[in-house]
Amino acid sequence: MGEVPEKGIPGEAPSLGGASGPVRPAEHAPPQASGGAEPQLYFRQLLSGRDFGLGDDAVAGQMRNFVYLVGDQATGEAMVVDPAYDPPALVEVAEEDGMRIVGVLVTHHHPDHVGGDLFGYCIRGVAELLEIVSVPVHCQITEADFVRHVAGVGKSDLITHSGSGEVAVGAFSIEMIHTPGHTPGSQCFLVQNRLLAGDTLFLEGCGRTDFPGGDAGEMYLSLTQRLAKVPDSADLFPGHDYSNRPSASLGETRRLNYVFSPRTAMEWMSLFGR
Ligand SMILES: [Fe+2]
Repeated sequence: MGEVPEKGIPGEAPSLGGASGPVRPAEHAPPQASGGAEPQLYFRQLLSGRDFGLGDDAVAGQMRNFVYLVGDQATGEAMVVDPAYDPPALVEVAEEDGMRIVGVLVTHHHPDHVGGDLFGYCIRGVAELLEIVSVPVHCQITEADFVRHVAGVGKSDLITHSGSGEVAVGAFSIEMIHTPGHTPGSQCFLVQNRLLAGDTLFLEGCGRTDFPGGDAGEMYLSLTQRLAKVPDSADLFPGHDYSNRPSASLGETRRLNYVFSPRTAMEWMSLFGR
């Protein structure tokens, strides 16, 4: 769930009453390789309601969540990031690419990312995925209780992390960057100069901080300090399709995204603190 609207500009996270954002022709993003020498990164960005979740789940199309598959083509192992809406289809996509899911990475606990009740809509997610594949679920320790309650998974299903850390998939290391603000245990994943940001940062805007557990001050620190180590050359892959393209460089995002406009924490809070 949802981005913080720019102050003075009407805008909200997509409502359940209708689709939001530009409509683009359907396309099926092919596997992308990192290029160069082995090992090769397996990377797919999948849009809910377009690339999966096409059935009776209209919410999948309205919420426009991105799910990611990240793995090592050489070993055939892949992690799935925020597997909501249609877990069997996500497993199938991986299998069709010759990959098997070996773990779940959770950016944060909101039901459009992990499954659960969203305004009365039951969204499928991590719990159903674990019925298909028995794999560990990685989340921040400060998000764990929320993930358990919202997604309906057990304590033993979770591997919790505190702050930064790394998770390996094949020969690749996925760095976890704890970025509180949207939720207490929100985190981003950095792999091969790709930042999977969940609802912490979008191409335009950032995650809302007015939901329970949100903290505008922490969001400012996450955007300006905790993510400062991610270079401008990295590509931003957000948790929702809220723009007219699915990714952009961090450098361009830092230049153009209005959430980077404030020069001080005080200025940030005056614009976005609530
Ligand atoms: Fe969210």
